[in-house]
Amino acid sequence: MARQAAADGIATIVATPHVISGRYENPSEVVAQRVEEFQRRLNHAGLSMKVLPGGEVFFDDGLIEAIKSGRVPSICNAGKYALIEFPMGGIPVAAERMVFELAVNGVIPVIAHPERNEDVIRDPNRLYRLVERGALAQVNAGSLIGEFGRRARETAQILITHGMAQIIASDAHSTRHRPFRLAAALYEARKLVGREQAEAMVVDIPAKLIAGEEMPLQSPEPYARRKGFFARLANL
Ligand SMILES: [Fe+2]
Repeated sequence: MARQAAADGIATIVATPHVISGRYENPSEVVAQRVEEFQRRLNHAGLSMKVLPGGEVFFDDGLIEAIKSGRVPSICNAGKYALIEFPMGGIPVAAERMVFELAVNGVIPVIAHPERNEDVIRDPNRLYRLVERGALAQVNAGSLIGEFGRRARETAQILITHGMAQIIASDAHSTRHRPFRLAAALYEARKLVGREQAEAMVVDIPAKLIAGEEMPLQSPEPYARRKGFFARLANL
């Protein structure tokens, strides 16, 4: 995977194993330890890839406490940015309060692949309300190139062009099943938002996350569904 990532133009990876309470525990110190070990192997193999610890934390009631205490991994385990995953079927009603409470505690949630979430597909402004409250969002590279179907692709396009998603990430799982496709996604994003902004989504903004730096203020725009009979047909 490291070799494939390098060929895709990637120099730094945040490893984000799933964290699901009671199923995949992956405590932050274990992830840090494994990532360190893996980095040593990469160095030994002569690969210049840099791998950093993180986690994709599944939403549940204990989330805020788990992140604040450092029990579950955050980006680089710095406790500043945390990658959060919602159930694919929908965004829990408690999500907006969670974003607010995390922000109060100095933690900025980064919502993983909202363009694949049924609630966001139906109404992209579900994400707008979270981003407005201080969340960030990252779309999957695969979504932009159609690997998760037409609806996920169109939703990803809406989220990017409305400033609701600020990051494009690989969500790579293996060399075959969901490989690294960041270069192809960057190409698609450039067509949507221009070269500068597209590159910021894969380079500058992720670099700030890794460094634990403050993010420029987000100014998302709500999505206004096109009106009219044919537009409504197109939206079916
Ligand atoms: Fe995920």
